[in-house]
Order: sequence, then C-alpha cells, then structure tokens
Amino acid sequence: MSVFAVTAARIDADDPLAGLEAGQRPEPKEREGWVTVTVKAAALNHHDVWSLRGVGLPADRLPMVLGCDAAGTDPDGNEVIVHAVIGDPDAGGGDETLDPRRSLLSERYDGTFAERVAVPRRNLVPKPAELSFEEAACLPTAYLTAYRMLFEKSGVQPGATVLVQGASGGVATALIVLGRAAGYRIWATSRTDAKRERASELGADRVFATGDRLPERVDVVMETVGQATWAHSVRSLKPGGRIVICGATSGDAPPAELTRIFFTQLSVVGSTMGTRDQLGRLARFCEQAGTRPLIDRVLPLDRARDGFAAMIAGDHFGKIVFTP
Ligand SMILES: NC(=O)c1ccc[n+]([C@@H]2O[C@H](COP(=O)([O-])OP(=O)(O)OC[C@H]3O[C@@H](n4cnc5c(N)ncnc54)[C@H](OP(=O)(O)O)[C@@H]3O)[C@@H](O)[C@H]2O)c1
Repeated sequence: MSVFAVTAARIDADDPLAGLEAGQRPEPKEREGWVTVTVKAAALNHHDVWSLRGVGLPADRLPMVLGCDAAGTDPDGNEVIVHAVIGDPDAGGGDETLDPRRSLLSERYDGTFAERVAVPRRNLVPKPAELSFEEAACLPTAYLTAYRMLFEKSGVQPGATVLVQGASGGVATALIVLGRAAGYRIWATSRTDAKRERASELGADRVFATGDRLPERVDVVMETVGQATWAHSVRSLKPGGRIVICGATSGDAPPAELTRIFFTQLSVVGSTMGTRDQLGRLARFCEQAGTRPLIDRVLPLDRARDGFAAMIAGDHFGKIVFTP
C-alpha cells in the first residue's frame, strides 16, 4: 500500500519550492501506541516553508512528508483533530512542549500532507461537529499558538489593548479572531492597504501601516514577524508591557533594543505551540464562542505547490488548507 503525499525531497535555503515533491510514498509507519488517521484536511504553516529551507529539518531525514496540521477520522470512524506536538508530558513537567526531545509532525515523523498519517493515540482530540474538517485543520498550529500567546502568556485580561504585528499571517489572523472573540481590544499592523482592510473586517479595532506611530501605547504586542517589526514592537509598549513572540518570519537578529527594554521594564516572553489539553479547550472555545478559523483558500493536495508559492510571496490572508 502507498499514499499520495507532499514531501520535502531536498533542502534549498534560497529556493524552498525547488525541494517540494508530490507523489506516492509508503504507507505511514505505526509505532506502538500509534494510530493511523485518514486525513480529510491539512493546513499549511510557515513551518513547512522553513522545513524546505532546512530550518529544523536536516537533510539526513529526507524525504519527509510535510505538514503539521490535520483533521480527519480515526480507525473507528471518529472525527478527530491531530495535535502536532510529538512529546512526552512527563518529560516536560506536565507540558509536552517543554519535553527536550519533543518534535512537531514533519520534523522527525512524517507529517500530514498525505492521505493518511500515523500519530500517537494521545494526540487525537475530538473534532466539534460544528467545525468543518477544513476549519478544524487550522487549529493545531496557528490557532493553538495564538491561544497560548493570548490566554496563557500575555498576562493581560480581556479589555486590554493587544497589538498584532503582520496581520495577514496564519497566527496573526488567529490572534485577531480569538482575541476579538474574548473581548480584547485588537490593533493590527500590515504592509498593504488591502490587508489592513481585511484585518478590520476580521475584527481588528484599528489598523496601522507597518511601523506607524500608534496613537497610544499598548499593553501587549504579539510578534511573529521579528526583525522587520521588532523596534516598533519595543517602542509601542507601555512601561512594564510585554512582547509575546512565537516567530521571526522576516529574520531573528534585529538590534535587541536592550536599553529601552530595561529602562521601561519590558518583558519578552517566548511561546511555542500548546498542549494537547489546550488544543481540546481551543476546539471547545470555537464551539462556545461561535468562532471559526479564517481560511484564505482550500486547494486539492496535488496543487499544494500553489499554496506554498502564495505563502512564500505573502499573497494570502488567513489559512491555506489542502484536501487529499
Ligand atoms: N513557535 C511556534 O510554535 C510557532 C507556531 C506557528 C508559527 N510560528 C512562526 O510564526 C511565524 C508566522 O507563521 P505563520 O504560519 O502565521 O506565517 P504566514 O502565514 O506566512 O504569515 C507571515 C506574516 O509575517 C508578516 N511579514 C512577513 N515578512 C514581513 C516583513 N518583511 N515585514 C513585515 N511583515 C512581514 C506578514 O504580514 P503582512 O503581510 O500582513 O504585513 C505575514 O502575515 C513563522 O515564522 C512561523 O515559523 C511559530
């Protein structure tokens, strides 16, 4: 038996699409305690682009099926969401993301851009019936990361002002959707007029051009952009404010702004993914609040290359989803 899958076949730091291949792969390997999920929908993350560039995916692990996120059915026919973090909560003090040996699907074990994927049984979370498979597939990485950033790491309560840098990305749109639903005042920056307008429609209370001076300082900044927005993030915070950072799409070595950080007593807090239990609560949050992930487009898996190209060009607003 074999499955149709989209893989990283080669690493190319400058031309990530050069190493992307689609074709038949061996049936996913089930280990002890693992189950095989029939994938109904899988969502693209910038992580998949980083993998093709060789960040977090060394060449000796190739070929590797890409994809962290999926929703599908388990062997008993139950509708499930797949938690992307493969780790042992006991090794991480109760949090699998703190297990020093944890990985994400597609880093060490084949990922979700395939007709079937094998995962540890504990990684399955029930899919709410109200969410489509396409919507549910958006939750495990971008939405879970946004959930943890807002509700665990930000340290601020609903009503506080949260600045989201780079509004159009998967995590950024998730921050707007979840933050708005939870009653935060969401301000967002983006590089184009069209994307700023979309961010307003999505629920951002105010939108600004990237780098614009804000009318007042904010309580928390949500960073995924990194180098291109870091100085603005530091300048935009109230004294004692906090930057929560989960990514650095534009580069990870901006000037650190150390003087401003200590003088205005800022905190910089890193955040990565979330736990299986948080993914379960996120699914319930969507059910309870009537919140739905924002999908930019749904493509058949055999047209995954088009989705990758759109993400690399920054030509998307929300999540890109593939269906096998
Ligand atoms: N730590 C974790 O667990 C975790 C989880 C998810 C994602 N991440 C990381 O977070 C980042 C975002 O992921 P994603 O999947 O949301 O990516 P994405 O959908 O590709 O979004 C990237 C966003 O970055 C902004 N951007 C890119 N280059 C920029 C530049 N030069 N100047 C200003 N803005 C720029 C864009 O904003 P505009 O076009 O709107 O300006 C775009 O919306 C990635 O680096 C990813 O690896 C980390």
